Amino acid sequence: MFYNGAMALDRDLSVAVANALASRAGPRSWAAWEMLAATGVRALRVLNESGLFSSVLLTEANPSAYRVLEANVARFGPERARALLRNARSPPPDAPFDFIDLDPYGSPAPFVSSCFDSARIPSVLAVTATDLRVLAGADPTACERRYGARPLRGRLAPEGGLRILLGWLARQARSRGVGLRPLLAYVGGHYLRAYVELFDEAADRDFFVSTVDPRDFTGPSIGGTTPVGPLWTSALVDPAFVDLLEVPRSAARPREAARLLELLQGEARVEAMFFFEANELAREEALASPPRVDEMIRRLSERGWPTARTHVRAGGFRTTAPRAEVAKVAREVAEPASRTRPEAG
Ligand SMILES: C[S@@+](CC[C@H](N)C(=O)[O-])C[C@H]1O[C@@H](n2cnc3c(N)ncnc32)[C@H](O)[C@@H]1O
Repeated sequence: MFYNGAMALDRDLSVAVANALASRAGPRSWAAWEMLAATGVRALRVLNESGLFSSVLLTEANPSAYRVLEANVARFGPERARALLRNARSPPPDAPFDFIDLDPYGSPAPFVSSCFDSARIPSVLAVTATDLRVLAGADPTACERRYGARPLRGRLAPEGGLRILLGWLARQARSRGVGLRPLLAYVGGHYLRAYVELFDEAADRDFFVSTVDPRDFTGPSIGGTTPVGPLWTSALVDPAFVDLLEVPRSAARPREAARLLELLQGEARVEAMFFFEANELAREEALASPPRVDEMIRRLSERGWPTARTHVRAGGFRTTAPRAEVAKVAREVAEPASRTRPEAG
């Protein structure tokens, strides 16, 4: 889904996440690091608008951005915020941190070692990727090289990219003996963002990373005949955590933030990989017109399949129902007379 002012909205969500973490963590105050700070607006907003951080370190390698960062940080005093002109690819002396934000132009890959090496266990990482071209399938070779995964193509590719990103982060954690679970992971217009929790003693039961074979997959049609991934196959969000999220009073985009939270909270109830779309169902089932999404959600829910709209694409819906059941309901919802081909038999 594309949002105007995507970055302002994204920072609104950073504040919402920090508020939720603060309410969940109680009085403990966190040491944070914004690895790629630019002018510092993201971490300084969180510092100013939530009670989560006791101190923030902000690093920036570009001298002209750093000059602005230094001036912005000065308003908070050295106890609360500190700026360093520094390459974030190596851990700073203040490590470890309870919260690390990694918000690059492009891929987080070059910074991931420094990020993990600087994380206290437990801690929370916030990771952005804007290399959607790679993660969402336009350059599969680069995806293999960068993330060790084969991407999806087509309409489900952005969610596929998010799941590849999470799977890759989970593998990075696992190689350090650390477990990872997503608190909140979502597809923005032109970027992916994941808030993940790191915890000690990674156990196999927490590692939901594997390849997905389109020939065996019973959810929405993912296309092709060769396995995609490895990718994160479990929930993108923690429902209990997402329920704590509220639009911050200081939100720059309150209406869009409220809509996104509403979608994420509804979707959190549906643990299913990928989503269906009315147009796609109409095409696959040769229906004259797409089935109404509200009606699809109502009927599937009535039959006991958790189903909700997805934030990833307007008109898309996520359901635990298998493809055959969704297709059956789509045929029922569409007017029988409007079918473009007669039923077999
Ligand atoms: C996408 S911007 C960060 C935006 C910021 N987090 C925000 O929300 O406004 C990425 C920043 O990382 C900086 N950067 C790039 N490579 C870096 C490195 N190796 N170490 C530190 N900063 C770096 C760039 O100069 C740029 O300002």
